[in-house]
Amino acid sequence: MGVEALPRTIEWVPLDGADGVGGAMVRLVEQRALPARLEFWGVRSLDELIEAIQCLAVRGAPALGLAGAYGVCLAGVIALRDACSGGEAAASSLVAALEPQARRLAAARPTAVNLVWGVRQVMKVLRTASHRGDTARAALRAAIARAEGLAREDEEANRAIGAHGAALLPQGARVLTHCNAGSLACGFYGTALGVVYAAFEQGKLAHVYADETRPVGQGARLTMWELSRAGVPCTLQCDNMAASLMAAGQVDAVVVGADRIAANGDVANKVGTYPLAIAAAYHGVPFYVAAPTSTIDASLADGAGIPIEHRDAREVIDVDGFAPDVFNPAFDVTPAALIAGVVTERGVFQPAEVVRALEGR
Ligand code: MRU
Repeated sequence: MGVEALPRTIEWVPLDGADGVGGAMVRLVEQRALPARLEFWGVRSLDELIEAIQCLAVRGAPALGLAGAYGVCLAGVIALRDACSGGEAAASSLVAALEPQARRLAAARPTAVNLVWGVRQVMKVLRTASHRGDTARAALRAAIARAEGLAREDEEANRAIGAHGAALLPQGARVLTHCNAGSLACGFYGTALGVVYAAFEQGKLAHVYADETRPVGQGARLTMWELSRAGVPCTLQCDNMAASLMAAGQVDAVVVGADRIAANGDVANKVGTYPLAIAAAYHGVPFYVAAPTSTIDASLADGAGIPIEHRDAREVIDVDGFAPDVFNPAFDVTPAALIAGVVTERGVFQPAEVVRALEGR
């Protein structure tokens, strides 16, 4: 029981008895199998990882950041073997081999900025090693160390987000959440659900209401699975029940995650987040966004510039012989004005001031 009962969502698994430079896989929870079965997918190539990202076997912004970081390392292991004379070549040859693959990986899904961020963090280490004149092997070793470091930082950040967010909640809080911004969306612990887990550990949480999250059902399948496994009292509801629950006075706070936060505090998150924020504003329920600073995209002035992924019509309706025109954006943008606070690992910020969280990073 408790959050420690949850699996690691995505991990680097060395197969060479050392750090993985000589062979490795990325092990991830196969999220399409949940809640029926807890299965793992041992991913051994970049193409396989891109497939896992696009079919939502691994999803959620911070988990995608780790997938980006580990994906570059995985491609590096293969490049070292096939194109860099087993590692004795210069790091510059490894960087040259990985540049196009890194671009392909970063583009696997467009909305969560963490994917690009994770790719960039590791490519930066490889380029620095190349400028130093390192061998390809030494460069890859440094890259793997960086990716492993990002996984540790992910958990630390989530625990800090949890502590900052729990402090915002009243005793006996009833929290409503949307999609899955839990441990399954990160390396471990969760962002919005990190707040829930911290409040639960402090004896402050009474109940969580999880939106089903049409069309893919991340709330019904993933949030309910992980909250139940952690022993957190929770109830599932259809998305269209949220406003009525607020009207009945059953919700003390809404806490959601984010896929990208623009400089003015506009937030892209799972489709259905925006109407939830409108309902919360109408009913005077505080609406919080919980996300690590890696989700902030200071290069975008506002949410209008956030690329929104459109997905297959069959996620909405899948009936043989019936193929209506379907509008299926996977994310929407919540205006900063509807957000009471953005909870990051560096504290809680007013949306308009969220870029301050990046100072000194
Ligand atoms: O399409 P998904 O499942 O990747 O969408 C995930 C979300 O929208 C989450 O709420 C968001 O990534 C925050 S996860 C901590």
